Amino acid sequence: MSNIVIVGTQWGDEGKGKIVDLLAEYADIVVRFQGGNNAGHTVVVDGKQFISHLVPSGILQKKRCIIGNGLVVDPEVLIEELDELKTMGINPGPDELMISEKAHVIMPYHKSVDLAREKKKGDKKIGTTGRGIGPAYEDKATRRGIRFVELIDSKVFKEKVTTILEEKNFYLKNYLSAETLDPEVIIEQYSHYAQRLAPHVTNVSVSIFEAIKAGKQVLFEGAQGTHLDIDHGTYPFVTSSNTVSGNACNGAGVGPKEISGVIGIVKAYTTRVGRGPFPTELFDKTGDFIQEKGAEFGATTGRKRRCGWLDTVILKNAVRLNGLTGITITKLDVLGGLKSLNICTAYEFEGKVVKDFPAGLKVLAGCKPIFETLPGWSEDISGIRKIEDFPENAKNYLKRIEELIETPIDIVSVGPGREETIVIKNPFS
Ligand code: GDP
Ligand code: IMO
Ligand code: MG
Repeated sequence: MSNIVIVGTQWGDEGKGKIVDLLAEYADIVVRFQGGNNAGHTVVVDGKQFISHLVPSGILQKKRCIIGNGLVVDPEVLIEELDELKTMGINPGPDELMISEKAHVIMPYHKSVDLAREKKKGDKKIGTTGRGIGPAYEDKATRRGIRFVELIDSKVFKEKVTTILEEKNFYLKNYLSAETLDPEVIIEQYSHYAQRLAPHVTNVSVSIFEAIKAGKQVLFEGAQGTHLDIDHGTYPFVTSSNTVSGNACNGAGVGPKEISGVIGIVKAYTTRVGRGPFPTELFDKTGDFIQEKGAEFGATTGRKRRCGWLDTVILKNAVRLNGLTGITITKLDVLGGLKSLNICTAYEFEGKVVKDFPAGLKVLAGCKPIFETLPGWSEDISGIRKIEDFPENAKNYLKRIEELIETPIDIVSVGPGREETIVIKNPFS
């Protein structure tokens, strides 16, 4: 029996949703363990696209889906997502969708603070998704958060909201020059959310533990990417949670001995939404080609994604930080048509070679990528279903990545559809 963690290795949007949906076929349970609706995970089945922001991407495979304690959940967005799924004939009951009683609730003031802070920062902004993620995690850390167990207890909820709003309104009005919020309106609105979601709220750690004991397989679905991790990413241009595989345990309530493998999702090139350092970013026609061919627009905010060459400095960082046992290469099809491809193997900073991803933003900003150039291919590879059938140059590109990051490629994705995939080694086998 295997329990597998899926994480992003770059700056998010690597194609985690597609691979989680694919591998969910072999899992009994799919668990999200961190983040919130800053995530946008795209799944395409039979030509139909579904973007999940909170519900784990295993939902289309009709597997038990769990929202772990490590998330910050906007109940309004979750309900919207459940309503959308209903129109697709998917209506998970309390056993099919479970929400940790310890997951934190995103409140209207979290969103207001997020947006107003970004506005106040002007060109020093982070470029957040504006979904209230940072302020919600901030309240969790300062022990002012509201969890689902409190949301569904109307008396406790009312007390908490009334108390905290005094402080939030003062801050919104006097520091951020933003609109204040009415506690009565929030209490009324959230009482409906509580009623709707209460049947799903439970102790998910116990459910996962019992399932593993009974021989079931669990797939842990990461959000964002390793370089958006609050500890290990390009701080402060990061999200507010730990995105690395170790947090699958914390964020779901399981012990590390249950994890049998960690798959890192690697886009065949690099993208980033929002601001922050990006050493291999392209500002030329090649960057535009990748952005257009890869349809690189954020699945949550619709913003254009910045595009650049594959960077093995960050990939090696991801291999180590996550303990990757294998990787999946996605969007290889997008690179078809480029005469040559660059792979960044190290950086140069003030005349010195830098092999390990630096922590300092000033150093990062001064790092120039050192590239190795490989020949490209012109063929459309999206219809190919066997590695042997790839053009030689595509095979060499994959081989070189494996060599540079010393980690095997288990899966290659050549299109957004579930079937547009080549599984070399199934992590569940
Ligand atoms: P996630 O956040 O990691 O789940 O990734 P997103 O869903 O935000 O972004 C990935 C985008 O690439 C989505 O639009 C997917 O449908 C698409 N995609 C995934 N794999 C492939 C692939 O192999 N080829 C192409 N062309 N598109 C892909
Ligand atoms: P998925 O799971 C890409 C980025 C934002 C911003 C920074 C902080 O789809 O890969 P936040 O709202 O989290 O406080 O924003 O993190 N970001 C993502 N970028 N993919 C994501 O999720 C992201 N979630 C957050 O753009 O730069
Ligand atoms: Mg995404």
